[in-house]
Amino acid sequence: MNSPLLGRSLLKLHDLSFVELRYLLDLSHRVKAQRRRREATSRFRGLSLGLLFEKPSTRTRSAFETAFGEEGGHPCFLSPKDIQLGAKETIEDTARVLGRMFDGIMFRGFRQDSVEALARYSGVPVYNGLTDDYHPMQVLADLMTLEENWGQLEGRKLVYAGDARNNMANTLIFGCAMVGIELVLACPEELSPDERIVQESRNYLLDDTPALVIERNLQTALRGADAVYTDVWASMGEEDRLQERLALLRPYQINAETLSWTQKNDTLFLHCLPAVRGNEVTAEVLEGPNSRVWDQSENRKHTTKAVLLATLPLFEKTLDP
Ligand code: CP
Ligand code: NVA
Repeated sequence: MNSPLLGRSLLKLHDLSFVELRYLLDLSHRVKAQRRRREATSRFRGLSLGLLFEKPSTRTRSAFETAFGEEGGHPCFLSPKDIQLGAKETIEDTARVLGRMFDGIMFRGFRQDSVEALARYSGVPVYNGLTDDYHPMQVLADLMTLEENWGQLEGRKLVYAGDARNNMANTLIFGCAMVGIELVLACPEELSPDERIVQESRNYLLDDTPALVIERNLQTALRGADAVYTDVWASMGEEDRLQERLALLRPYQINAETLSWTQKNDTLFLHCLPAVRGNEVTAEVLEGPNSRVWDQSENRKHTTKAVLLATLPLFEKTLDP
């Protein structure tokens, strides 16, 4: 089947239509099954991918390098220490040059404007591997993980607790709306999402999915939750705000007691990682039976491979994706 996403970038999850998101999730499940069967493929043979990092990463870098490299592609890691991006060369010039060298570019960094400019000026597919605003590659893996557990996503309830104005919350707001998950954000007023994002997300609600709710009281928010998601209290680049965040977010920690507030035994616990045990989550929950965080991490690789397969013009297909 021809991919509906051929030649496209993935800069925000809500750039995708419902059909395109469904296509990527189905493809992700297929490539995971292929990998499990240890089918040798080389679908990226002859292609090169530039991986541009302004911020550090374990999962995103590993997912792109392994997903692309194990199928014969050449991933090229470009750190800010080594290239001219920013101070010495404009993002537009960098984009034009990289677009002449690489078949696709992944960007992880601060400004959403930067990844958008890379896509505009490079002429090749560009993937947002996290910006201050969004983390679409992560939420694809999160949705895949939930689907593995639930089969169907529509009609489930997910509670995100903590900093509800960061890249993860912003992306979950759209991701949950698009697949029909009811989303409750449990957060203090100071860390509520931008009102423009809340308003915009209403345009993406699948069928009669309830609009997102913002709830200050964690216990009220968690009642009946099918999944609980949390993230670090100080994102990359905001480390100097940690003391202030600790004071604001302590009541939102996910621990054995707060998890029991869901009044269900099978509530799944998710975290994009890296986690700070003792802040947003306790070790007991992170490593407990409800946790699916390691599956989420693994699924970063499969969803990344699906995105690359769907968007890059391949030279040759040895296996039909
Ligand atoms: N979840 C995630 O993006 O992890 P890294 O920061 O390690 O890439
Ligand atoms: N909100 C976190 C996500 C890390 C994957 C951060 O930006 O640091």
